[in-house]
Amino acid sequence: MCGIVGYVGGKSAQEVVVEGLRRLEYRGYDSAGVALVHDGAIVGDKRAGKLANLDKALAEAPLPESHTGIGHTRWATHGGPTDVNAHPHRGSRGRVAVVHNGIIENFAVLRAELEAAGHELASETDTEVAAHLLEREVSAGADLAAAMRTVSARLEGAFTLVAVDAAAPDRVVASRRNSPLVVGVGDGEHFVASDVAAFIEHTRDALELGQDEVVTITCDEVSVTDYAGTPVEPRAFHVDWDLSAAEKGGFDWFMRKEIFEQPHAVGDALLGRHDDAGRLQLDEVRMSEDEIRSVDKIIITACGTAFYAGLVAKYAIEHWTRIPCEVELAHEFRYRDPILTRDTLVVAISQSGETADTLMAIRHARAQRAKVLAICNTNGSTIPRESDAVIYTHAGPEIGVASTKGFTTQLVACYLLGLYLAQVRATKFGDEIAAVVDELSAMPARMQRLLDDAETVYAVARELKDVRSVLFLGRHAGFPVALEGALKLKELAYIHAEGFAAGELKHGPIALIEEGMPVFCIVPPRGRDFLHDKMVSGIQEIRARGARTIVVAEEGDRSVDGYADVLLRIPASSTLLQPLTAVVPLQLFACELATAKGHDVDQPRNLAKSVTVE
Ligand code: G6P
Repeated sequence: MCGIVGYVGGKSAQEVVVEGLRRLEYRGYDSAGVALVHDGAIVGDKRAGKLANLDKALAEAPLPESHTGIGHTRWATHGGPTDVNAHPHRGSRGRVAVVHNGIIENFAVLRAELEAAGHELASETDTEVAAHLLEREVSAGADLAAAMRTVSARLEGAFTLVAVDAAAPDRVVASRRNSPLVVGVGDGEHFVASDVAAFIEHTRDALELGQDEVVTITCDEVSVTDYAGTPVEPRAFHVDWDLSAAEKGGFDWFMRKEIFEQPHAVGDALLGRHDDAGRLQLDEVRMSEDEIRSVDKIIITACGTAFYAGLVAKYAIEHWTRIPCEVELAHEFRYRDPILTRDTLVVAISQSGETADTLMAIRHARAQRAKVLAICNTNGSTIPRESDAVIYTHAGPEIGVASTKGFTTQLVACYLLGLYLAQVRATKFGDEIAAVVDELSAMPARMQRLLDDAETVYAVARELKDVRSVLFLGRHAGFPVALEGALKLKELAYIHAEGFAAGELKHGPIALIEEGMPVFCIVPPRGRDFLHDKMVSGIQEIRARGARTIVVAEEGDRSVDGYADVLLRIPASSTLLQPLTAVVPLQLFACELATAKGHDVDQPRNLAKSVTVE
């Protein structure tokens, strides 16, 4: 939530910062702004609305040459999305400018203190207090880093702050607590940003910042301290993807590109994690065999799409390991006093690694001495850093706000975890595990076949572009797929969409069915006869009541032919792995329907990709 960038180096700061914001716009797009240091003063511009509005303003009134600057793209919390509330914010004399991601929870007290001392604050934001406080410190003689330490220590809540001081044109200073911040290390230039995408076109060398740390970047140096001023050595990492991965590569939307990247991403998520005989190699789990054997409960916690990946994981993990597995939304888990012991394994799933609700959930779990394993896509992010171990999903950057390859690679990581636990605990024979690994290895090709026939799904989406409501039904592992299909449609097309467990139909949802209502039905593979046949009966029941059935069924399953108004075929797979393919047509459908409605698929209204506030 909110993207922030800072730059010091030989290039035009305006260009570097604005390009960085373009790559971070998925984090929020309510307003955008920049501030540069020029000739002993701060200059800048900021505009409500998407970055395009700022681009236009800067094209009409270019800012003067500068090599030091900061920028921000906002997802509004305190104060509506107006020009005045847009970041950067400045102190009363305009000497210090600040951008912020997060929420300063004690801002009202600080604001009252500043107003009592004669400060006039222009905006309704919590951020502006930080600008005034920092300016007060530097005006009293502190350097910007010392000022940042003093001010940060007074703030409560979640924040990444990035600041410039007109009197110190060679540096940008940043501070982080509970919000993301990484440093980019270039040749004669340095960057700070919410995410490496902002500087990937300039460097792939980066540094992680820890909790409660302040970093100062100049052209030649990066120095990090804690809030007490003690130097800290940050951990360096190399980003394993490049600029092309952060661009659309000929697709109209990042989301569509990411859907099409799934065969590759799923292949990468499997890479190096099993040997030729199908034996799992998952040292990343960092638990001894004894620790794994003593796990008596697994709790999976996540939000949004990642939560649905967790629901699929429950079916697989319980079946393969016989360990009881609960799945809970992170924001619910945290506040219900869950029962956790040293033998509980908490698995936190998060594409971004920054979701505040999930972060708070793992902190709570660790405080109760449970072991925490993260499943995450973003190197250097907070959730893996605060977990005992991490399985990275290796999907590459996911920029479209609606998660796609993030979801399917999370599924792969969950399957691998389940199989690994089964291997260590010997709840499955080696050949049974190897058979699932073999099937996982076949999934990229199956997904590719679906993508090659995307046009069939697109035609259905375009035809249904004016519908007001769509239902999704699934059973067993197909139930979370139905939930995910509905979420995609809500997020992108802004139409009413609900996912139901098909068995629940007769207990209420069937009352929603009216003439012509489109209903997606995810049919389980025929291998599970009892599930499959019950689903087919459900389809007949809704069709008899006027539903327009869009049936997603495996190739060769003729039993549904008579009850499908539209039939979408998916390659045959086992029941537990079917979500990897069954979700693909639902992703394509939502993307195309939203496109046909003229919506911005990559930046749906009111949403942000990385929700860094609770
Ligand atoms: C937001 C996004 C969703 C995402 C969820 C969890 O709500 O809009 O697409 O699934 O956050 O994000 P995470 O990064 O933790 O997987």
